[in-house]
Amino acid sequence: MAVEPLISESQIRDRLAELGRQIEEDYRSRPLTIVAVLTGSLIALADLVRQIHIPHRIALVQASSYRGATTTSTTLVINDAFAPDVSGRDVLLLDDILDTGQTLANLVRHIQDRGAASVKTAVLLRKIGRQVVPIEPDYCGFVIPDVFVIGYGLDFDDDYRHLPYVGVLQQ
Ligand code: IMP
Ligand code: MG
Repeated sequence: MAVEPLISESQIRDRLAELGRQIEEDYRSRPLTIVAVLTGSLIALADLVRQIHIPHRIALVQASSYRGATTTSTTLVINDAFAPDVSGRDVLLLDDILDTGQTLANLVRHIQDRGAASVKTAVLLRKIGRQVVPIEPDYCGFVIPDVFVIGYGLDFDDDYRHLPYVGVLQQ
């Protein structure tokens, strides 16, 4: 399958540096924990945290959605074994892409329930046209049209995550 480049390596680098400066200003002197959603946000996490020059912790959560066999509703199963103690901390949830919004909205509630002092959200990409849950990301790298993207952490059937840029899969 061919890949059409959409967002280049240098565009991503420049944008993450801008977001890093904003996050630094917003969280100066606050107990920041960045909670990244596996697996798609791993590459963005590694590049973003190196642009945030204030002390902060890193934690990981996994969120898998399962579509019921007999219904159209989806259930989100959250594994936060690698996000130790977030109580009293200012959490910034990081995901690769906001699509329908269900993953992030559920995770925000989950982290709030675990006693975080505050919960904000950051996404590398925000896809326009498919959102069903009203959630506004606090930090957003790029707004993209309703196309299926891969690379820079994003996968198709678990492949393509290693591409250093974001591209559109031509089927
Ligand atoms: P949401 O819960 O619908 O917002 O879905 C978010 C998740 O769906 C992301 O963490 C991705 O794993 C996946 N996803 C949504 N759109 C794409 C895409 O275009 N490419 C790859 N993964 C996607
Ligand atoms: Mg994902």
